[in-house]
Amino acid sequence: MKLLVINGPNLNLLGLREPAIYGSTTYAQLQDFIQDICAEEHITVEIKQSNHEGIIVDMVQEAYGNFDGIIMNPAAYTHTSVAILDALKSVGLPAVEVHISNIFEREDFRHISYPSKACVKSFIGYGIEGYRKAILFLKDYINQNNKEKEAIKK
Ligand code: DQA
Repeated sequence: MKLLVINGPNLNLLGLREPAIYGSTTYAQLQDFIQDICAEEHITVEIKQSNHEGIIVDMVQEAYGNFDGIIMNPAAYTHTSVAILDALKSVGLPAVEVHISNIFEREDFRHISYPSKACVKSFIGYGIEGYRKAILFLKDYINQNNKEKEAIKK
């Protein structure tokens, strides 16, 4: 199984960035954390980060045919990006949304998530543990889907 993890703007500054909200884990440590979980779960993972909306759209499009699923923390684009929502809908890969902080307990403008409308599940406010939950959920979801496809073929 191959998963793509996409992190949006300013997540490269984890550790430095508002630690009272996002914690003290650095982006490099988050990448190691994700790699370790995926290694334990026998999942091949690629982790990408961009501060640019169009680049994130390109990443989603390029995932088609190359990955089994997407885990995404769209960061600030969560609250604005119809383009990322449309990209997720276009490729139709199972996608799971992660937010480190609880966006529903923050400013009103963070309460809406466009990409969530194309995601099978969201993990919100669990800190970086949300990425573990997303990986385990998506692994089960994809395996279950594959089993159902096999059963239909028979
Ligand atoms: C975030 C929440 C967003 O509102 C914010 O813009 C981020 C990070 C989170 O992981 O909690 O950059 O997606």
